[in-house]
Amino acid sequence: MTHPALARAEAFAATYGLRRPVLLAPMAGACPPALSLAVMRAGGLGACGALPMQPPAILAWAEAVREAGPFQINLWIPDPAPVRDPAHEARLRAFLGGFGPAVAPEAGDAMPPDFFAQCEAVIQARPRIVSSIMGLYPPDLVARFKASGIAWWATVTTVAEALAAEAAGADAVVAQGAEAGGHRGSFDPARAEMAAVGLMALLPAVVDAVTIPVVATGGIADARGAAAALLLGEIEDRIAFLRSLRVPPPGRLAGTWSNLFGTVTVTPGTDGGLAVKVDANEPITARWTCGAEGKGRLAGDVLTVSLGEDGSALTLAREGETLTLGAVPGKGEAEGTADYCGLNGSVDGTYFFVTPAAPAR
Ligand SMILES: Cc1cc2nc3c(=O)[nH]c(=O)nc-3n(C[C@H](O)[C@H](O)[C@H](O)COP(=O)(O)O)c2cc1C
Repeated sequence: MTHPALARAEAFAATYGLRRPVLLAPMAGACPPALSLAVMRAGGLGACGALPMQPPAILAWAEAVREAGPFQINLWIPDPAPVRDPAHEARLRAFLGGFGPAVAPEAGDAMPPDFFAQCEAVIQARPRIVSSIMGLYPPDLVARFKASGIAWWATVTTVAEALAAEAAGADAVVAQGAEAGGHRGSFDPARAEMAAVGLMALLPAVVDAVTIPVVATGGIADARGAAAALLLGEIEDRIAFLRSLRVPPPGRLAGTWSNLFGTVTVTPGTDGGLAVKVDANEPITARWTCGAEGKGRLAGDVLTVSLGEDGSALTLAREGETLTLGAVPGKGEAEGTADYCGLNGSVDGTYFFVTPAAPAR
């Protein structure tokens, strides 16, 4: 009998016309048509890492593999133009020259192919899938890909990037663990090292955070790795979370409220006040990061809980069936740097009712 995790992957593959849930990694400069043809003829997805390719080369690549089945074309979302530093470039030229022929001074003037012209070529080539790495396609391109029947898979390296990709209309995310082939697809190069999450931690956190399919990549080298990735992709946590939700009593804040990243407990006190306890996880690594406790009284519809003499506070407001929690920074504290939260942590967000409150004590 096929394991349900494998059946799920096979069903995903079948929606893209594949006979096997195996996808060749797009690799810039290392994706000859022959490699894709071998994967496609075995029932998997062909792939072109088109980063260094001019439009005619992209079109020629697509024609060379088209007869064998579905394939994806992958582009890098461009970085802002580099700030040139002649002294640094001279040092680099001298360093690189030590490994081979001297590097010409104009080497740094080389321009990558034009990204928008590459996108036009992709639309003309009509792959089954266009994928992205290092960021997201702008909305007008996403709309044009989709209007041409091309699905978009976005490579992501954190939960926050996965959520951004889903919100931008990605049809699937490729969760790329920090192990991946020396490549980090981080949207923000400045944060890449700080947010290096291994596939084992990243995959279940991404699967729990998004509702679109998740493809796993990075350090999967044999059948054991593939089996582990399939199991880590199970959505049981999300189902358990959804099953735990209850309809909240009208108008009240008291009770336990949750979302996938945290829990808020509001307990009535005998003095008529409300005690609040908050725990939250960091949205990039899903590690515990924030913890705060305090007491407050309702003023109108909003409960304000003071957390320190510097004025830092939490606000809780019931909005229909949900609870909205906001962090008020203390005096001189920058937004998002609350001292009850670790690096990048935040308690802001929408929470859902889970259990009624214990009686007042
Ligand atoms: C030589 C090489 C080039 C790569 N180029 C790209 C690329 O252009 N675009 C991309 O999305 N990923 C690229 N990757 C990353 C792969 O698509 C894939 O995510 C990664 O190799 C998977 O990790 P693994 O090598 O541990 O299996 C490249 C990987 C390698 C090894």
